[in-house]
Amino acid sequence: MDRSRLKHARTPETNGAAPLPALAHTLMADADSAVLLLDPHGRIASINAAGERLLALGRGRARGREAAALLRTVVAGDDVVRDAFRAPRLEREAVLHSAAGELPVRLHSYRIGRPPWVLLTLRDLTQMRRMQQELRRHERLATLGQLSAGVAHEIRNPLGGIKMATRLLAAGGYDGDRIPVEMAQSIVAGIVEIERIIADLLEYARDTRLDLGEYPLDRVLAPVIDAVQAPDERRVRIEAHGLDAGIMAMVDGPRLRQVFTNVLKNAVEASESVMNPRVDVRLGLRNDAAVVEIVDNGPGMTAEQRSKVFRPFFTTKSTGTGLGMPIVKKIMDLHGGEIEIDSTPGRGTAVRLIIPRLASPAPAAAGTGGGS
Ligand SMILES: Nc1ncnc2c1ncn2[C@@H]1O[C@H](COP(=O)(O)OP(=O)(O)O)[C@@H](O)[C@H]1O
Ligand SMILES: [Mg+2]
Repeated sequence: MDRSRLKHARTPETNGAAPLPALAHTLMADADSAVLLLDPHGRIASINAAGERLLALGRGRARGREAAALLRTVVAGDDVVRDAFRAPRLEREAVLHSAAGELPVRLHSYRIGRPPWVLLTLRDLTQMRRMQQELRRHERLATLGQLSAGVAHEIRNPLGGIKMATRLLAAGGYDGDRIPVEMAQSIVAGIVEIERIIADLLEYARDTRLDLGEYPLDRVLAPVIDAVQAPDERRVRIEAHGLDAGIMAMVDGPRLRQVFTNVLKNAVEASESVMNPRVDVRLGLRNDAAVVEIVDNGPGMTAEQRSKVFRPFFTTKSTGTGLGMPIVKKIMDLHGGEIEIDSTPGRGTAVRLIIPRLASPAPAAAGTGGGS
């Protein structure tokens, strides 16, 4: 470019009418973004090479044309040029219909002077969108991969047992009558184990609708305590507090029962390993929410374990599926509730389930629910 031209205040392209110094022209020509200057009639007074490329227009073909016709978005009634003339500054994203197809862009506009001219810049987001999509796809695949690896790992154990027992049976590698019975029993145990894993998985993946009803929370909680305590005539003492306060809440009773069961079982399983195991269950209120607190004096969790409790298949137990807490989290989220966990290694764990009493049912929660 001829340097002396930079001194001139006007450029020949706009017949001296545009407030566009030659310096600005140089900057425009160098820009990676599309830069368009619109005159007060909304016509293109000037466009840089990047702009012609982006909009797939031949060189010099855009000048003088209606900007609104060239910058149509895919949304009916949406008019970026009209909006740009209405506001002193504008910054937004849009998907344009260009000669080369749909074009996602980031758009900046500046209104200048009176009558108003508009300076528009457009940045191509195609590449960025593609990268974002790619990232999301990778994330989905990673989650799916983790989940599949977890399922495979969990099911392989009982399957291995079943296979061994069946092989022995088939080979007749036993004497006496009792051994085949034991083998058959171990096959059944393996199948029961696999069924349990599948039931947990289905619960975790189950539809997200709640079947809300007005429930006295003590009636949801008490049978859970009985059921967990019953097979555990062993050593763990479960003490309940506050069940007589008559606290009501709009919840999905059966699914909340599942939440209490999972948390209470974890507390019992954790405290089984200490000298005087003890689990306390407290039902109470905090502001307008119901709180169920389950405290054990088990070994507690390290910060690392604590950070993984909601991860599917995270378990430190030989017979665990690691799906209990993810299911708890999912059902609590659906209720708009919260979970607090305080855990001190060597001292024990407190899990607090905070349940809004008047959960305004989300749109998806209305109508038929999945509660059984
Ligand atoms: N009350 C608790 N005390 C100590 N550790 C716990 C407690 N609750 C959960 N955890 C930890 O979180 C892990 C995941 O729990 P969960 O999702 O219910 O799966 P699972 O019980 O099948 O292992 C447990 O294996 C344990 O390591
Ligand atoms: Mg569990």
